[in-house]
Amino acid sequence: MGKKKVILAYSGGLDTSVAIKWIQEKYDMDVIALSIDLGTGKNLKPVEEKALKIGAIKSMTIGAKDVFVKTFIFPALQAGALYEKVYPLATALGRPLIAKMLVDTAQAEGASAVAHGCTGKGNDQVRFDVAIHTLDPSLQIIAPLREWNMTRNDAIEYAQKNGIPVDVTKKSPYSVDENIWGRSIECGVLEDPWIEPPEEIYKWTRDVNNTPDKPTYLEIGFEKGIPISLNGIEKEGPSLIHELNLIAGDNGVGRIDHLENRVVGIKSREIYESPAAVLLFKAHHTLEEITMTRDSLRFKELVSTQYADMVYSGLWFSTFHQDLTAYVLSSQRFVTGTIRLKLFKSNCTVVGRKSPFSLYTHSLATYDEGDTFEHGAATGFIKIFGLATKTQAQVQKNAFKL
Ligand code: ARG
Repeated sequence: MGKKKVILAYSGGLDTSVAIKWIQEKYDMDVIALSIDLGTGKNLKPVEEKALKIGAIKSMTIGAKDVFVKTFIFPALQAGALYEKVYPLATALGRPLIAKMLVDTAQAEGASAVAHGCTGKGNDQVRFDVAIHTLDPSLQIIAPLREWNMTRNDAIEYAQKNGIPVDVTKKSPYSVDENIWGRSIECGVLEDPWIEPPEEIYKWTRDVNNTPDKPTYLEIGFEKGIPISLNGIEKEGPSLIHELNLIAGDNGVGRIDHLENRVVGIKSREIYESPAAVLLFKAHHTLEEITMTRDSLRFKELVSTQYADMVYSGLWFSTFHQDLTAYVLSSQRFVTGTIRLKLFKSNCTVVGRKSPFSLYTHSLATYDEGDTFEHGAATGFIKIFGLATKTQAQVQKNAFKL
């Protein structure tokens, strides 16, 4: 009988490269490397080959950009899912998809285990482990970074001893994760929340001093809460996001400095670059403002918070998620229309909105000619509306003094 097999989520970086050798030594298993393309535009062929060179028995790449946008990103956009009101959840949304592909690959390859490169302090281990065991409780989960007691220097030494190529030019004090929905950057000087992030950490957004001196105007078309066009031209989701990342990034839009609450109880400081996401969340919410009633908007806020917490905490494969999604989908049936945005010097401002389902009614709102609002009805309404407060003041004599 051959050795047991493990599917390793492989990025090509130092940690998961070391993990290939380390798992072989520690667990005496055959390692199959799996790299997943979530739309960063990076060529994964060299990554695939690197795994084989290090000793993986098989190495493969799955292109998952389309499914990522369609099944993870756009539903989260419809939900208004910003964790703690600011984080568009790029990393958090990618994890359940990677977990699903690890599990599917393990089943297809007859592997008894899966492995990932998460540490024992972060959210990502929670997302992977919960998702993996929800999908297949029989799989063993190996998380080398949680088990080995290596510092970064130890890992480099281990790599050098084992003939694992280490790209020292890429050595950076930061930990970065990226996919089409955004970049997450932490560690190094960012761990001091008093320090302004150094310019070097940003790769997708320009500093405000290097942005164009003229504003850029954009029109984003939505259908049922999903962005479908840019400046009147229909676009597929991935290319729309890609284009918006470039345009918004050029205008310095999309930087987020977040002191966030991790699932494991730690407060951490993370910087995000999510140009397209920042712009799309703003446009989408503006369209909701004009097409939804006040009650629906208020309730949607609660749903958005719950949805974001659910994604952040790694509960993607839960019935709670399915129930929230049912509400979100229903709430989006009139969220169709066009939003006009102005990008200028790191600001993204809404300057126009229109929709065939707009609840904004000019004849009701206008102070000019054509007003159809029944002014006389206001006095009766106000009498009844204020009755409880007036009664209370008279009976309880809670007079207010200045
Ligand atoms: N804090 C973010 C999250 O939990 C990103 C985690 C990964 N970030 C990183 N820089 N490696 O979703």
